[in-house]
Amino acid sequence: MTALSLRDIRMTFPDGTRAINGVDLSIERGEFVTIVGPSGCGKSTLLRIISGLQQPTSGSCNVDSKNIGYVFQDSVLLPWRNVQKNVELNAELQGIPKELRRESAQKAIGLVKLNDHVTKFPHQLSGGMKMRCSLARSLVSQPQVFLFDEPFGALDEMTREHLNDELLNIFLQEKFAGLFITHSIQEAVFLSTRIIVMSSQPGRFISEHKIDFPFPRVPDIRYSAEFAELCGRISHDLKLAHA
Ligand SMILES: Nc1ncnc2c1ncn2[C@@H]1O[C@H](COP(=O)(O)OP(=O)(O)OP(=O)(O)O)[C@@H](O)[C@H]1O
Ligand SMILES: [Mg+2]
Repeated sequence: MTALSLRDIRMTFPDGTRAINGVDLSIERGEFVTIVGPSGCGKSTLLRIISGLQQPTSGSCNVDSKNIGYVFQDSVLLPWRNVQKNVELNAELQGIPKELRRESAQKAIGLVKLNDHVTKFPHQLSGGMKMRCSLARSLVSQPQVFLFDEPFGALDEMTREHLNDELLNIFLQEKFAGLFITHSIQEAVFLSTRIIVMSSQPGRFISEHKIDFPFPRVPDIRYSAEFAELCGRISHDLKLAHA
């Protein structure tokens, strides 16, 4: 079942900046698609269009669910709420009854392994823990379409790899349609079922790579020759994208 479908999306901002130049994309549930591309090529703009935060200049965007998860590069937690209360936030805004939202928040907190930190406030958390908390907050509404805008970009490599392993486990359990953005080719290859390379501004898709590693993926696939070869091919296309 197609969870997300874009047809000829174009975006020109009022100041004349042409950000996106005709993008077509379909994602099914159970697919994890990652977009890589040069800075300023329109990746975040595309996610904003999909989430409904931005109207495209032309083209159609169909999302087969009102439940869209959106995780930003910054964890955007409320400093005066502890982990439990931050995770409950979206559910609270949706008017979900207290008991129900507490239950679903606890499940999400378990998925991101923050059980031992529920009473801590954001300033008491590490960068990785803040991102886990942000992820849990989006998981509460059980999104069928999950958008990620460079969520682990600010983290050190070990923490990022650890969170990648956990995100894949969550993906396997929840089976959402994932659309992920990163500047890390390794992260893209490890997580994705498909990688799309986007050209520099105005952005359009220039190549697509199917990633066939079976699930569940063990962390050690990162050291295989096949993994290195895929990274090499995508890196090559990214150089063309910068041209
Ligand atoms: N509100 C706006 N008005 C005018 N131009 C904008 C606006 N928002 C974004 N842009 C421009 O659109 C282009 C795409 O921006 P976008 O943020 O989507 O890039 P990106 O691919 O996410 O880059 P990065 O990898 O650095 O996050 C850029 O040239 C940017 O300056
Ligand atoms: Mg961006």
